[in-house]
Amino acid sequence: MKKYFATTPIYYVNDVPHIGHTYTTVAADVITRYWKQKTYDARLLTGTDEHGAKIAEAAKKHSKKPKQYADEISDKFKEAWKSLNIDYVRFIRTTDEDHIRIAQDFLQKLYDRGAIDPKPRLYKGLYCVGHEKFMSKEELVNGLCPDHQTKPIEHSEENYYLKLSNYTQQLEEVISTDKLKIRPISRKNEILGKLKQGVEDISISRANLEWGIQLPFDKSHTSYVWIEALINYYTYGSQNGVWPADLHLVGKDILWFHTIIWGTMLLAIGEGLPKEVFAHGFFTINGQKMSKTIGNVISPQDLVAKYGVDGARYVLLAAFPFGEDGDFSWDALNRIYNADLANGLGNLVARIYRLFTNHTFNHKLKSATGENNIRVESYKSLIEDLQFSVALKIIRKEIKDLDIEINNAKPWELGTNEQKAFLQRIVPRILLIADLLQPFLPQTAEKILKQFSGQVKSSAPLFPRI
Ligand code: MSP
Repeated sequence: MKKYFATTPIYYVNDVPHIGHTYTTVAADVITRYWKQKTYDARLLTGTDEHGAKIAEAAKKHSKKPKQYADEISDKFKEAWKSLNIDYVRFIRTTDEDHIRIAQDFLQKLYDRGAIDPKPRLYKGLYCVGHEKFMSKEELVNGLCPDHQTKPIEHSEENYYLKLSNYTQQLEEVISTDKLKIRPISRKNEILGKLKQGVEDISISRANLEWGIQLPFDKSHTSYVWIEALINYYTYGSQNGVWPADLHLVGKDILWFHTIIWGTMLLAIGEGLPKEVFAHGFFTINGQKMSKTIGNVISPQDLVAKYGVDGARYVLLAAFPFGEDGDFSWDALNRIYNADLANGLGNLVARIYRLFTNHTFNHKLKSATGENNIRVESYKSLIEDLQFSVALKIIRKEIKDLDIEINNAKPWELGTNEQKAFLQRIVPRILLIADLLQPFLPQTAEKILKQFSGQVKSSAPLFPRI
């Protein structure tokens, strides 16, 4: 069996899941289900990032121990993914025992191979806890982090260094030749551009932060949270025979970590590089940045309550091209839901199903094969390139064409035999659509299949209008 191994970022447990986390996770689930449907041993890994100053601070604010706080919030992520029908193979937490062990082995290897300087040195920098990263003066606006509106901490301590600069040439080579494929191409060029400007060695340890994984070669330090967090992918992959990963799906905000830092770490210990890192864009809500202060944060629960599980999965990925920045608004999402799902797919299935129940068929009607069908071919290759919204346009067109065909044929006016013959032609094409949409709409696809195989009698609309 061929394998496919995809990952989402592991999310910080300082806060509950929102539409941003949902967006990435649904996309990763859709692509993994696509490969599963093609009978690959396809696995999706997701989880939570639980160490570091940001989590320690959040826990303190709630008067809880970090681990207890992490337990509570990671449960919320699990609930959210369950409600969205995310089919992951493991929910990894950076506080899991095997992760701590494997992260320490990894760090030891980095040290033994000379990728980490043998002795700590003074490291000075401006640290944004919200980002869990050092920021340059140029990135700040009036001395504040523009994303968090907070003043970064003046960090000055003896830290261990990862020698990023020793690997820039090798990295440039693997990235430019797509051995480590970065997509979209514009992002690949961005990363290559930054590499050309030169990179500095980075601090990878903390002397004064207890809430983290101890460095195996110096127990008085904990690992910088990003370094051990990246290893989560390898914790799962290496123990389950699926390393290297086929895809790391990330937001553009964390692409640098997933290519330059993670790439260096893997090259340094001689492990395989992920085949592809895809960075999707960032979205605003009604034109504004999503923030608690503005009060426009959308939760996964809000989405499922409004559109149902499959509806929520669909509208997120149909709204704008994956890889580009975009905007979500309830108006826009409602429009997509009503047009594509209620009036499109839902209505098509309902009108044909009504006629279907007039007949008995000796043989179960099967999905059309889709072989040598240009639309189906291009749909599939678009999905493989993660061009979800573009791929869905093809289905929309197919549904529209079917509607026109039905309107022209007026099957409700036909005699029994002709009507039956018409259904024998049309139902397989609807089943093919259900099949193609299965990664997006797993429950709906199954319902449609069951309806047209006579297993269930149903008259409830698949997608009630909003
Ligand atoms: N813990 C790190 C990732 C470590 S991976 C080894 C982290 N966590 S996070 O909770 O902040 O999640 C970041 C991810 O959430 C982004 O990369 C992106 O996938 C998603 N998004 C959060 N807000 C988003 C938007 N407004 N728009 C699109 N995606 C967003 O970073």
